[in-house]
Amino acid sequence: MVGNKQVAVDCIDVHREFQDGSRVIKVLQGTNLSVHRGEFVAIVGASGSGKTTLLNLIGGLDQPTSGTILVDGEDITLLDDEQMSKVRRHKIGVLFQDQHLLPIFTALENVEVPMLLDDVPAEERHERAMKLLETVFVEHRALHMPHELSGGMRSRVALARALANDPAILLCDEPTGDLDHKTGGEIIQLLRNLAKNQNRAVLAATHDPETARMADRILLLRDGVLVDELVGEFFKASRVDVGTTKNGTRRETVARE
Ligand SMILES: Nc1ncnc2c1ncn2[C@@H]1O[C@H](COP(=O)(O)OP(=O)(O)OP(=O)(O)O)[C@@H](O)[C@H]1O
Ligand SMILES: [Mg+2]
Repeated sequence: MVGNKQVAVDCIDVHREFQDGSRVIKVLQGTNLSVHRGEFVAIVGASGSGKTTLLNLIGGLDQPTSGTILVDGEDITLLDDEQMSKVRRHKIGVLFQDQHLLPIFTALENVEVPMLLDDVPAEERHERAMKLLETVFVEHRALHMPHELSGGMRSRVALARALANDPAILLCDEPTGDLDHKTGGEIIQLLRNLAKNQNRAVLAATHDPETARMADRILLLRDGVLVDELVGEFFKASRVDVGTTKNGTRRETVARE
């Protein structure tokens, strides 16, 4: 806990290396990150800097080479597959570009899928899925197939699906990547509202200055660590607690308003 805010994600000295033939690619090299519930944090950085790698680690889709990742206080690096899939189902929602809607199901059914996996009874499933579609303003298309929806509507449905099991943490990889400016702006506003009104931790990797500008904090992934420097004049200053580990300790920085 920091103040009265609950830490939803805590990455401590996280390293991730990939083997490429005889070469080792060091992507994350002592990354530290704390995200609280109610916070919307943007991660920016050059292509290949490791943004997706970091989200995959937090989402339990990949394992760090070393380091600790706490999700809602639980060290997910110690969990077996079954325990990890429970954490993924109950605590983490993901909005990743390559996680498309299932084409043979309606929008409503797509949102119900994560609840099906969790044995939620049919009536409750429908009701909750409808409410989620309302949250993202696409309830009027509940019975449409994905191919009948616009790109922005599909993104909204995917967002509703990511929220199906009421996750504390929402991980978004390029949430506005495929969308036009206006639609992208609407999605970002929704993400911000999900953090602020529903007390979720929202973490978005992005190249989009508009997305970054809407975040509470903008962190730059560079040389395998997250830094809270300003990124040109587009990006506003970040607020608290990102650290590098050059000397093996965590560095807490003070808010700059
Ligand atoms: N499974 C893997 N095996 C080998 N190398 C990988 C693997 N996954 C990622 N990498 C490498 O790790 C580096 C970081 O990739 P990552 O996808 O995390 O970057 P990114 O910041 O998300 O980039 P972008 O902005 O283009 O999406 C890249 O050099 C990539 O080639
Ligand atoms: Mg990426």
